[in-house]
Amino acid sequence: MEFTIKTGNPEKQRTACVVAGVFDNRKLTLSAERIDRAAKGYISEIVRRGDMEGRLGTTLMLYNVPDTLCDRVLLVGLGKERDFKDGEFYTAIRTAVKFLNETGAYEAVIYLTEEKVRRREIGWQIEHAVIAASEAVYCFSELKTENTDVRRPLRKLTFTVPLRSDLSIAEATMVRGQAIANGVTLARNLGNLPANICTPGYLAAQARQLAHEYEDISAEVLNVDEIKKEGMNAFLAVTQGSIVPPCFIKLEYGAGKTKNKPLVLIGKGITFDSGGISLKPAADMDRMKFDMCGAAGVLGTFRAIAEIAPDLHIIGLIPACENLPSGAATKPGDIVTSLSGQTIEILNTDAEGRLILADALTYAERYDPEAVVDIATLTGAMVVALGHEACGVFGNNDALVRSLVHAGEDAVDRGWAMPMWHDYHEGLKSGFADVANVAGRAAGSITAACFLSRFAKKYDWAHLDIAGVAYEEDRQKGATGRPVPLLVAWLISRERYND
Ligand code: BES
Ligand code: MN
Ligand code: ZN
Repeated sequence: MEFTIKTGNPEKQRTACVVAGVFDNRKLTLSAERIDRAAKGYISEIVRRGDMEGRLGTTLMLYNVPDTLCDRVLLVGLGKERDFKDGEFYTAIRTAVKFLNETGAYEAVIYLTEEKVRRREIGWQIEHAVIAASEAVYCFSELKTENTDVRRPLRKLTFTVPLRSDLSIAEATMVRGQAIANGVTLARNLGNLPANICTPGYLAAQARQLAHEYEDISAEVLNVDEIKKEGMNAFLAVTQGSIVPPCFIKLEYGAGKTKNKPLVLIGKGITFDSGGISLKPAADMDRMKFDMCGAAGVLGTFRAIAEIAPDLHIIGLIPACENLPSGAATKPGDIVTSLSGQTIEILNTDAEGRLILADALTYAERYDPEAVVDIATLTGAMVVALGHEACGVFGNNDALVRSLVHAGEDAVDRGWAMPMWHDYHEGLKSGFADVANVAGRAAGSITAACFLSRFAKKYDWAHLDIAGVAYEEDRQKGATGRPVPLLVAWLISRERYND
């Protein structure tokens, strides 16, 4: 999709479609009013008849609107004017673009970006309009041989800004929005691919591909022998039941760009989580192909960052493998010595994410990091706690946690701070090893984070549990690309701490 920015009057646009908003209840926006004036009351007449009342998410397509130069006018309901905030803005853009994509119009000029969103600047609105629009046209049809694609897909969208003086900032944030959207798309594609295609080796190839495409990125992949030589036995305990080889993927962005210590992102890359010997129930087990969405988030973030090119030094680490039962699989009660030297009693082989992350967290120490953030579809309990609205943000440094929550708010990709009081560590006590990999049923996301914290003592660390936000339950919908927008916003915010 191609995006451009423009100023100008809606009735003068020579385009396939002009998109203008209507507030609830039947209140025309300035751009709708301008069209109405040119068309001598045509729009207000329709609104008066009750065909468009302005409720958020509603649309009305009009053809042959008198005295305009466009083929169509799409009216979009924006909801109550005083409630027009981040989420409503997203919904309005998404609704408009989804609708356009189903019509014969291959381009449009969208005036919705001129409606002021509370507490946001025009630059923010353009950036997020681009992200919302790309999200709305996303379609994963690579694996369908029947042609289900839209006949005349949208090719070009123009967003308008109120003033000529807005143009330069809007053009810059449009480019940033595209970069973030590209990162989100990569994360969604990887998430949606099934486990027989998106294997650890496939993720490694994606990392190499990024390194090939972007000069600022380099990639390196450790194979099973190298993983063994490192002593990542917690990671190996998870992969050993599968015949598909594991990979430990390392990405680096911006080596030499700053003198600062690097920021490290770690993504959980379980390409399929059957639970292992602690086998999951059959219903919905297919969803566990999404258990590599942390890894996909890291790869997507690297792509977005390489396109934005900030002065940052970032390391990405992805332990990638399958979690399957077999005669070679880890058994409940097995004890392994992790890379940190701590022994772990694996009481439940389905609590595998924390095992592979434990070794990656220890591995991160060698970079002497400024901060480490791990991203993982770690616990079902996270979905119970926060649903699909926000990921859980845990950590050993309140300022770091706050900065991630703040970035999420700004990116409309929410995170919410979770407590990690010391009392929660109790349940992880093991009778036979230093620590057990599961505690009781209560506060499962927090005890999982407590487990991770034992391997992240040497630096400032945060953990994003994205189990509820990485994909949608609806089988037609799939991966969301979250938390790429949150991570990119957070990384960009770190640029000001440079040198
Ligand atoms: N990948 C799952 C977590 C998950 C569950 C993500 C549902 C998305 C939706 C993770 O590896 C897992 O199985 N966690 C267990 C932990 C338990 C055994 C302590 C869980 O949440 O049930
Ligand atoms: Mn599991
Ligand atoms: Zn898992």
